[in-house]
Amino acid sequence: MTGEPSVAVVIVAAGSGTRLGGGIPKGFVALGGVPLVERAVHAARSMGEPVQVVSVVPATLQTRAEELLGSRATVVAGGESRQQSVAAGLAALVGSVRTVLVHDAARALAPASLFDAVVDAVRRTGGGVVPGLPVADTIKRLGPDGAVLATIDRSELSAVQTPQGFPRASLEKAYGRAEQEYTDDAAVFAAAGQPVIVVPGHPLAFKITTPADLARAEQLLAPGAPPRTGIGIDVHAFGGDGELRLATLAWPGEPPLAGHSDGDAVAHAICDALLSAAGLGDIGERFGTADPRYAGAEGAVFLRETLALLRANGFEPGNVSVQIVAARPRFSARRREAEAALSALIGAPVSVTATTSDGLGFTGRGEGVAAIATALVRPAARLP
Ligand code: CTP
Ligand code: MG
Repeated sequence: MTGEPSVAVVIVAAGSGTRLGGGIPKGFVALGGVPLVERAVHAARSMGEPVQVVSVVPATLQTRAEELLGSRATVVAGGESRQQSVAAGLAALVGSVRTVLVHDAARALAPASLFDAVVDAVRRTGGGVVPGLPVADTIKRLGPDGAVLATIDRSELSAVQTPQGFPRASLEKAYGRAEQEYTDDAAVFAAAGQPVIVVPGHPLAFKITTPADLARAEQLLAPGAPPRTGIGIDVHAFGGDGELRLATLAWPGEPPLAGHSDGDAVAHAICDALLSAAGLGDIGERFGTADPRYAGAEGAVFLRETLALLRANGFEPGNVSVQIVAARPRFSARRREAEAALSALIGAPVSVTATTSDGLGFTGRGEGVAAIATALVRPAARLP
């Protein structure tokens, strides 16, 4: 019996993360620079015994998850509902597995000790085991009109978490029989007539559902390390051949900006703001305005290299805000598009606003474009 795992952890990360609103499925949202699903896989692999880790992800992100997780997990595509995703994970278990834990990637900070405690309890009781915490609030049962019907005795209540553990054979049987959707695996198990007990949960096993939950998780990872702000300004004159490139977008019909690169003042101001926030100098010093490698280079090239520098120095972007001062182009119609393109490049929210200078100065005379950016960066938290 060398290394054949008797425990498996199925980590479900196939949800869309609608309530978090990060624009990508929640399991792939970074927490301290590390995607939630990778954090959950790391916790499972830090258990006290060999485990098979199965990671269930949206079908569209299966390749990306395989690249991210490598040999650390078996990656399978999930289903429409959480229950279908768990079923897909169960189908990938290896033969030696006797105990299965099912875990939400959304509970990314649940510690390995909690996984170990749940496995111990499954082996001890032979039944289902869920971690739970006492309920602190007073809970009321309501009628359809919002009238209070009763106060529930909260000493009888538990707010349950994951990982939830089960003997493999009984869980598979319960999943085979399930005739409706349940909100957790313990409910599927109990519906098949199987016993479930609650063991003490862990405060770090809270579920990341909303942006406030994610912010709280970030704070827990980097206690006392304040974010840093930076500012960047760039100006380019109109001139040269071709078409305008601004905020990484092409602007057909608009005159181009002059410069050694493509003159994308928005991208350059953002680079300076990020570099200044991280204390890494400025774009001229880092990338050399005369360096032939950057002749005609697009704004996206500088942004990618700036991000790589930031990460190499232990920082990650928090958010970026940039304002364009220009008589043209008319920016408002493409603001959302610019924000989406820049946010995707930077991996953090970027907001872009624009103003004219009321006919005053070089921007007012339409001689060029100015951009002013501020950025927030945080020390990147490593895996715990
Ligand atoms: N999940 C899943 N497959 C689904 C739906 C949910 O694997 N079809 C997973 C989620 O990825 C998450 C866990 O189940 O790890 C708990 O679900 P929830 O917190 O609701 O996550 P999402 O469904 O992604 O979020 P939302 O409901 O806000 O869209
Ligand atoms: Mg959901």
